[in-house]
This record gives sequence, C-alpha cells and structure tokens, in this order.
Amino acid sequence: MSGFESVFTLEATQLKFGAGAAEELGWELARLGLKRVMLVADPALHTQGLVARIEAIMAKAGVAFTRFEDIRVEPTIGSLQRAVDFCAGHPADGFVALGGGSTIDTAKVANLISVHGGQIMDYVNPPIGLGKKPASPLKPLICLPTTSGSGSEATTVAILDIPEMHLKTGISHRYMRPSLAIVDPELARAAPSGVAAAAGLDVLCHAIESYISKPFNERPRPASPDERPPYQGSNPVADIWSLKAIEFSGTFLARAVRDGNDTEARGTMMLGATMAGIGFGTAGVHIPHSCAYPIAGIRHIYHAPGYAADHGFVPHGYSVIVTAPASFRYTYDACPEKHITAARLLRGHEISEPDAESLPRAIIDMMKAVGAPSGIAALGYGEADIPAIIDGAMKQQRLLAGAPKPVTPGVLDRILRESLNNW
Ligand SMILES: [Fe+2]
Repeated sequence: MSGFESVFTLEATQLKFGAGAAEELGWELARLGLKRVMLVADPALHTQGLVARIEAIMAKAGVAFTRFEDIRVEPTIGSLQRAVDFCAGHPADGFVALGGGSTIDTAKVANLISVHGGQIMDYVNPPIGLGKKPASPLKPLICLPTTSGSGSEATTVAILDIPEMHLKTGISHRYMRPSLAIVDPELARAAPSGVAAAAGLDVLCHAIESYISKPFNERPRPASPDERPPYQGSNPVADIWSLKAIEFSGTFLARAVRDGNDTEARGTMMLGATMAGIGFGTAGVHIPHSCAYPIAGIRHIYHAPGYAADHGFVPHGYSVIVTAPASFRYTYDACPEKHITAARLLRGHEISEPDAESLPRAIIDMMKAVGAPSGIAALGYGEADIPAIIDGAMKQQRLLAGAPKPVTPGVLDRILRESLNNW
C-alpha cells in the first residue's frame, strides 16, 4: 500500500431538527437514562425566558439539574476551569448545553475533565498543550444551539483562549463530540443581528474551508486507526454537508441578519451551522481558522455590535472571515472548479467568466451585506502586527495540514497583507 490515506470515516452527532424539537429534550434525557445533569446555559438567554423554559422541560421529565452560567464569550482557560470546578462540586451523569459555541465548548471541557481528570492543558492540542487522549467515552452531552454559527454541537473540538500565551487553540478528540444536537429554529430568534452575522460567516467559512480542504487520500496514512485525525480532509460525504451549508448561507444569511423573527432564515442557518459542523468535523478547516486564533487572541480591543460582553474581543466568525477572501485567492489553483462551485452556491446563480477572484468577491459582498468588519485593520491590527499573527497561525499545524496548498510564513504574510482591508 502507498503512504497515502485510503480510508475516511463519518462519525456524526445525532441530530433532531425542527420547530418544537426542544420540547423533546425530556424524552431524550429519559432515553439516555439521565437522572441528574449539569445545565450549562448562556445567561443572556434569561431575557427571552429560554433558560426557564428548558429547566421546566427537564423538571417535567423528572431530571434533577444544577445550572452553570458563568460562561465567557470566547472561553478562556480560566473560564473553563471555573466550569470544571463547579462540575467537581455538583456530580452529574450527563450535560445539557443551551447557547452558542462558547457555551457548548464549556460543557465539552467540563465533561472531559469530570470523566478523565487532570488539567485542561493536558488535553490541549500540541505543541501548546500535551495533546493527551481521553481513554474512554465521556458522559452524554445534549446541545441546544441558539446562535446558528459554531456548529460545535456537531464537532469534536472545544476552542479556548490562553491569555498568558496570547493565543487561541483547541482540544480535539472524537470522544468530545456531543451525543445529540437538538436544533430548534424557535431558539434562533434569541441572537442579536450582530451575533447572527458573525456566527453565519463562521458557518460559511467552515463549509468552504472543508469543501476545498486537501482530499483525504492525499494525506499521509496514519500509523493506526487511533492516529487518524478528526480532521481528515475533504471526501465525498463531508462535501455533501459542506455544499448544502454554502447554499443555505447564500440564500438565508443576509435575511437572518436583517430580521431575527424570520424563523425560516434563522432556522435554516441554524440547520446549516450543524450541517457545516458535520462537514468540517470530518474534513477540517485550515487557513482562515489558523489565522483566526491569533487574530482573536492577540488584541482584545474590538467591540462588536450585538455582543453584550464588557470586554473587547473579536467574535470568532469575524476573526475567520477577514482572511477568507485572500486565503481562497491563494488556494484557487489547487482546485479551481471547487472554488467556482462555492462561489456559485453563495451567489445563488451561475458565475460568468469565473476566475480566481470569483469566490473572494462573493465572500466580500456577503461580508458587506451583513455588516462585517472590512479586514484585520478594522479589528485593531496594522502591518507591524503581521509577524505575531503569522507566528500564532503557524502554531496551528493540525489545521494547516489540511490546506490544499502548502502554507509557509511567506504565504501567510501575503494573505494577511491582503486582508488588512478587503475593501
Ligand atoms: Fe469556526
């Protein structure tokens, strides 16, 4: 056999989708045999009565619960540790997460440490952490996403900010994948427009990066199935999920941002977020997400419209989308037809005279339509910051290995310069 991989896997989260699906949480908890759970909830959802509603559903099902809601938007290792400590004092046989990616990732890490112990850094991706692998499955985690963005309900990853090191990174293992995503469009109303915009652009990047990622069979064969990474590269199954999520973003994202009560648009973006999560949870993201971690991790001075946080920070979706046009300009010649397909689905019509600019242009138009920042300059970065961003991005080798072309510091320098201002 050659040195190339010849196998890919699909290990998707179970999905329950539709208006009223959240009402079935009690039934699902009973099905999984859960009697006492830790509810990890975004406190901003109190204003819509969502937390009380979910608690009433659990109480009616006879499930005891403790609520943890000290969630930080874009969690830090410190905020995750608070969830771990809380969990240690409130034993549970399972977890329910109600919120966006930050909430779901907090629940994933609390679950991981409650089952396998140790320190959070033990499990963080190397070389930043030790990359320890959990030896056995975690407790059940049911996710009820509310932001139609991260797709975290469908992935094996939790993202964290390590302020002392000025970087963001992740913990990634197949056992981190939630047991069930209950995706209820009625929960999508809760997100402010700015949150829907950033989250939706994250969906779009998940889908496009996955779709154009290096094919699974052009990556090295792992020494054993245990060494096969969660992010395996594009493959015919992941492509289906990614393509549909690009199409949904093209059709519904701008509408979802304009009107929070447009439940068709918000709900379809929510489904698209989970579908893109299944796609990228299998294929993987690469250049824009590698750059996003230092962009969000180095400087915390941007205040995004729609977010209630009292600290400056770059919402994940914006940290990703700002380098997407230049990244896909660079990757174009690895697979031109895939880039054009993505541009066509995003535009919703055929592209006349397709070329390397077709996809970057379509993304820039979408960024403008939803009020995204124009580039890394708008997030507080100048040319002098580019070397530090390159350093941070080059540490994300696990992601960069999935890019369809080699990524060197020189390549990133060009991409970041083009990304200072996209228009
Ligand atoms: Fe993302």
